[in-house]
Amino acid sequence: MSQRKACCVWFTGLSGAGKTTLANALNAKLLDAGTQTCLLDGDALRKGLNSDLGFSEQDRRENIRRVAEVSKLMVESGTIVIVALISPFEQERETARTRIGAKRFIEVFVDTPIEICEERDIKGLYRRARAGEIAEMTGISSPYEIPKTPDFIAGSNKSIEDLAVQLLTLVSDRLSEL
Ligand code: ADX
Repeated sequence: MSQRKACCVWFTGLSGAGKTTLANALNAKLLDAGTQTCLLDGDALRKGLNSDLGFSEQDRRENIRRVAEVSKLMVESGTIVIVALISPFEQERETARTRIGAKRFIEVFVDTPIEICEERDIKGLYRRARAGEIAEMTGISSPYEIPKTPDFIAGSNKSIEDLAVQLLTLVSDRLSEL
């Protein structure tokens, strides 16, 4: 009996960069292709598993660590895991890569400039951060460390559909190498 092959696609980027949108688009394509997937989204996880965590550096590091550990278990069970998490720290992202296994880890940097994220401001968080109502807002009063060696850079000049197609190819190439 052959073990199902799986990997983790890890989306990192600023709030409002489009991580969730892109993660959903890729998820839909993987489901169409008949694979088993699980989407782990920062906002959703913070309502349950990570509801005890805030946005201090320490809490964010713990947030990323937990998501990496859950992802590892799920990938090992044969599920393709899609993570959408700001995950601003290089060190924790690299730990995730090591824990899950470099061959099974695809880091996608959703490279949307802060100006665009702030202009979109879908949740109104940037406006509130500028007004001093929200502390430790990523990109404003809390750091975002740009990935040094991402497996894929999703530029804001490309359509979600084009990016999702490219990512689907990347995932299937990776799975065939396992
Ligand atoms: S992470 O930094 O710990 O990886 P995570 O992806 O889980 O962040 O959560 C980010 C989401 O929390 C954002 O999309 C936004 O909706 C919300 N949020 C609330 N406060 C903040 C803040 N201070 N900085 C960033 N995101 C925030």
